[in-house]
Amino acid sequence: MSVVVTGATGHLGRLVVEGLLSQGFPAERVTATGRNTAKLTDLADRGVRTARADYADPTSLKEAFRGADTLLLVSGSEVGQRVEQHRNAIEAAREAGVAHVVYTSAPRATDTTLVLAPEHKATEEILTASGLTYTILRNGWYSENYASQLEQAREHGSFVGSAGQGRVASAARRDFAEAAAVVLRDPAAHAGAVHELSGDTAWTYADLADTLGELLGREVVYRDLDTEEHVAALTGAGLDEGTARFVAALDANTRDGELSATTGELSRLLGRPTTPVAETLRALL
Ligand SMILES: NC(=O)c1ccc[n+]([C@@H]2O[C@H](COP(=O)([O-])OP(=O)(O)OC[C@H]3O[C@@H](n4cnc5c(N)ncnc54)[C@H](OP(=O)(O)O)[C@@H]3O)[C@@H](O)[C@H]2O)c1
Repeated sequence: MSVVVTGATGHLGRLVVEGLLSQGFPAERVTATGRNTAKLTDLADRGVRTARADYADPTSLKEAFRGADTLLLVSGSEVGQRVEQHRNAIEAAREAGVAHVVYTSAPRATDTTLVLAPEHKATEEILTASGLTYTILRNGWYSENYASQLEQAREHGSFVGSAGQGRVASAARRDFAEAAAVVLRDPAAHAGAVHELSGDTAWTYADLADTLGELLGREVVYRDLDTEEHVAALTGAGLDEGTARFVAALDANTRDGELSATTGELSRLLGRPTTPVAETLRALL
């Protein structure tokens, strides 16, 4: 059985390839792909096949996917273009004879107000209508997303947001990657499954302040703002209006509990508890 992984030049895809290798999957049966294969040379040195694959270039996708039984489609990072890009990848998988597509989606993608969900929902719909066997990994939030709060806390002893008492059931990016590798090693066991993957513990921003305080050895305060105050603080710190509104919208989603569900599915796939947010942030320090 062979596996092709997209986005292997990025954080998650690379960790998935590393996860497959460390879980004993033969390197010669893995193809790591990205737009710039120069970023994949160390994987090639370890026996992994590498290939160029650009979601905007269907020919490159078809060539890269040929011969693979299973595709891990890591969702792209170009927000607004992803539905067409993912459609290209799913269509290329079908044309290349790939039997099973595993897609990294977002929490409760088909039933959430999460601002990032619509492209994931549309991709899930394309995939489930494709006739291919599929598995959907609805990845929760990465703990690494809170690196900027760590930096703010380190500099100012405080950080701002507009998430209120909302909780985040985050896990380490590596946890999600290892779970993807588990699925890719035995895709038939996950055929048709939609896995809602989250960290085992859901924390508030006030909890995050306490965690950062312990890590930094100083008092850290979370200052909760309303949405407009948050946008003003972000634009005042140099963000453009669109990005500031996007960040504030994600905090509103957090406040509304869209990232809070602790499903236990990630730790079940891993066979161990998920990595606590404190451990991920300590590693970032
Ligand atoms: N759950 C979360 O908390 C969370 C947070 C952030 C992102 N995400 C989603 O999860 C995905 C993986 O996360 P990550 O941390 O690995 O993100 P990342 O480090 O930004 O990696 C994104 C990957 O997507 C590739 N990509 C983007 N556009 C592409 C295109 N047109 N054709 C081919 N490849 C393309 C990038 O390739 P290049 O190296 O060529 O740019 C890169 O390999 C992200 O892309 C995003 O959809 C989830």
